[in-house]
Amino acid sequence: MIGSGYVGTVVSACLAHIGHNVIGVESDNAKLELLRDGRAPFYERNLDQLLEAGRQAGRLGFTSDMALAMDESDLVFICVGTPSRPDGKADMSAMLEVAQAAAPHVKHPHTFINKSTVPIGSGRWLSSVIEDAAGDPRVTKLVRVASNPEFLREGTAVSDYLHPDRVVIGADDPASLDDIVELYQPVLDQSFPGSDQRGPVPLVKTDLMTAEMIKYAANAFLATKISFANEMARFCDLMGADIQTVTAGIGLDQRIGPRFLNAGLGWGGSCFTKDVLAMVTTAAEYGYQARLLEATLAINNDQRHLVVERLLRHLKNLRGARIALLGLSYKPGTDDLRDSPALDIATQVIEYGAFVSAYDPVVKALPAGLPVRIASDAYAAAEGADAVVVATEWPQFIDLDFARLRSAMKGELLFDGRNCLSPTIVGAAGLVYEGVGRRVPGSARRLAIDLRA
Ligand code: UDX
Repeated sequence: MIGSGYVGTVVSACLAHIGHNVIGVESDNAKLELLRDGRAPFYERNLDQLLEAGRQAGRLGFTSDMALAMDESDLVFICVGTPSRPDGKADMSAMLEVAQAAAPHVKHPHTFINKSTVPIGSGRWLSSVIEDAAGDPRVTKLVRVASNPEFLREGTAVSDYLHPDRVVIGADDPASLDDIVELYQPVLDQSFPGSDQRGPVPLVKTDLMTAEMIKYAANAFLATKISFANEMARFCDLMGADIQTVTAGIGLDQRIGPRFLNAGLGWGGSCFTKDVLAMVTTAAEYGYQARLLEATLAINNDQRHLVVERLLRHLKNLRGARIALLGLSYKPGTDDLRDSPALDIATQVIEYGAFVSAYDPVVKALPAGLPVRIASDAYAAAEGADAVVVATEWPQFIDLDFARLRSAMKGELLFDGRNCLSPTIVGAAGLVYEGVGRRVPGSARRLAIDLRA
């Protein structure tokens, strides 16, 4: 397993759990020490237990020695980051680096399996890079490449890996496909120890490029579903309808399904923006304008401005106002701040001259240069605030004492950016509730008239 970042560590631990021998290659010494100790370099539910169990069973080890890892293995997973470059395309430099480092150690047949999200065609690119870097034409016969996209969500990654909705494997040669199917057999028939899921997991076996495309298409569709819900929420605001009931009403149609229809501040995290942007950019490069995906991105971006628009409408002038943010991570259950809507909102209101205080159950520090006061709890964050914005739907926020929150505040506006609170309970505590596309008892008509004015 080359790369012990988020995906690589989860996949290593899970493959060891289902009975395989795994060697993780990691060049960062601090990370390596933690992993050798059976601990993950980041928080993910159930991961430390699996790492420790794999270590104790002697099936999971970590090294910085590429030669040793290559010598001992047949299947080589590449799990390195492919962040967005400034031009929107995927940055392949980490993948280039590890492929070049592994190439000289190809002495017997290896199948390189790509788990990173990479531009379509990267499998073929990878095999050419390895052949060139090996400097030995015989390597061509020893190297095969495959794609095995991951669909892991942070916070539930271990269970997503062990009990997936499907496994996708792409390769252009049947031998690689067979090897990887064999590797996944315990997951496919759910026969590994402790599996509680009945019935086999569907398998999609396809060619390399189609597998790479499936990964992008999955993320693009999920992102589009969220932006669709957010566009419907705008309609609801204008018409005085309620988005929660609308999405429940459409989600019951089995052709649509209820998930990924939560309207609010939109998505954040490491994948959706990066992957959708990469698709739009690649499409343009090939002479096609991906209009649906452009709109998906634009709508998501607009949701972050919506908060500021609402604050301006209520407070008129933000200079010197205090805004309290509840939640900083891009979703609950993680401390990940990548592309987090909360940070964008903080940046925007600070530009308008506001002061921001914030509370998050796990995030206790922010990137340098963002002047946000981190409070010890939600009530401390709300102290003297003109408005409170719920930016992440941490379950803890649902049970807040809203009367206490109100008495800590100077103002009365609570903007529920995740539609996770009850307007009735919040309203009963003397706060003015605003959500995204929600019908608030007694105020829907007023809001609709305001907007038309
Ligand atoms: C996502 C994909 O789900 C996963 O398959 C892929 O491999 C990596 O990217 P992740 O980023 O961990 O996973 O989070 P996910 O739970 O999918 O949520 C992404 C974002 O969308 C979060 O910010 C979440 O708050 C937001 N979201 C999700 C919505 O705004 N509305 C929804 O209905 C669902």
